[in-house]
Amino acid sequence: MFISFEGVDGSGKTSQIQYAAAALRAEGYDVLLTREPGGTPVGDEIRAVLFDSKNSQDIHPHTELLLFCASRAQLVAEVIRPHLAKGGIVISDRFADSTLVYQGYGRGLALDALRHIIDFATGGLWPDLTIFLDITPEEALERRRRASLFGDEFNRLDDMALEFHRRVYRGYETLIAAEPQRWHRISATGTQEEVKASVLEVLRQALVVKRASHE
Ligand code: TYD
Repeated sequence: MFISFEGVDGSGKTSQIQYAAAALRAEGYDVLLTREPGGTPVGDEIRAVLFDSKNSQDIHPHTELLLFCASRAQLVAEVIRPHLAKGGIVISDRFADSTLVYQGYGRGLALDALRHIIDFATGGLWPDLTIFLDITPEEALERRRRASLFGDEFNRLDDMALEFHRRVYRGYETLIAAEPQRWHRISATGTQEEVKASVLEVLRQALVVKRASHE
């Protein structure tokens, strides 16, 4: 089973994924955890290029898109497909939906072109289940501001950045509405314990259904 987690920046995804993977492993599942961009030696080098601040001004949106998809192609071939083939569970911190919402809805690249490029990169692999940790960009920003000892750091997020993240959030809402059977929307505004319990409930339920369909 292939599971991805999605959400706007600051949704608390990464810690929730760690908890979920640990809980499923304790129940005996063979869980492989990965993240995008990255997750392979080649992908980690691509990640470094993407997030190197000296590239951030120059990188063309098409280049950015192709680098995200290049990292993904390597991850699918080297890590995800082999683990799924041996019957394991793969949990990915972001997957192709991130490209649709960030490069498509966020940056404004054409969605049909993105879908072709994504499918070329992944060979058509999509997650069986996607958990959306639901928090608006405004709430995520406020949470980070409260959590930070250096609150002012986050005040510098200008209107343009916030508007970009609003488009990303609306992009997620559109994708969820188009494919409600794959997506599970979980509020990320509760305490870590509450979110953790909701995530595990969804995962356990999905695994039971999956197992029943194999019996
Ligand atoms: P990361 O440091 O992993 O942050 P997060 O914890 O929010 O996932 O950075 C990932 C960033 O890259 C995040 O801002 C989303 C963006 N991204 C894209 O723009 N397109 C993509 O295809 C992917 C996978 C990520």
